[in-house]
Amino acid sequence: MKNKYENLTIVENPIVNQSLCTIRAKDTDTQGVRLAARKLTRILLYEATKNLPQTEVEIETPLTKFTTKTINQDITIIISPILRAGLIFTDEAVDILPQATIRHVGMYRDEKTLRPVWYYNKVPMPVDDPKKYYVYITDPMLATGNSLTDVIKLYTNKGIPQQNICGVCMISAPQGIEHVFSEFPDVKLIVAAVDSHLNEKGYIVPGMGDAGDRIFNTL
Ligand code: URA
Repeated sequence: MKNKYENLTIVENPIVNQSLCTIRAKDTDTQGVRLAARKLTRILLYEATKNLPQTEVEIETPLTKFTTKTINQDITIIISPILRAGLIFTDEAVDILPQATIRHVGMYRDEKTLRPVWYYNKVPMPVDDPKKYYVYITDPMLATGNSLTDVIKLYTNKGIPQQNICGVCMISAPQGIEHVFSEFPDVKLIVAAVDSHLNEKGYIVPGMGDAGDRIFNTL
């Protein structure tokens, strides 16, 4: 869908809309939220990974040899789920990208300041040729953008180009999108919905409530 940001993709199709309705509805139980969320994350990941470089390969089918395209094997693909809700993307991500490295980052939100508080960081790693790294940071909710910008920074500090970094989120708020692009105009954002606003507690409205609680049954 078209929008005012060059690097924001809002993925819209009937399956996405149906899945969004399911995860948003307050009476959907945890299993229902998980199933719909996983469907949604797979579609978002398909969209996000359209930027992966491809290369020509020769394949031999039972009938003949031919030349075709596949993902360049000479790159490093990183999936970075922001714990804990971002984990919902992981099973789908490793299914469709078995070669990916999963680098978890753990943070929770200080309820007063709405700033992320770090408790786990699996990102410190040597980066030989930063241009060959493609990073997908996953978090179902892009609210203030504080967590996502902190994680993007971890990767840009290693020299990985913004163009190779993508935030993948189910539901976003205008404020979070603005925040991310004000600091990192060249990263990509892939979302299924841009909602109305954040409430005084930093929750996205209409949103889906606390994504972690709804996915992990800790309400
Ligand atoms: N995190 C959530 O889980 N929900 C929101 O609405 C905002 C941040």
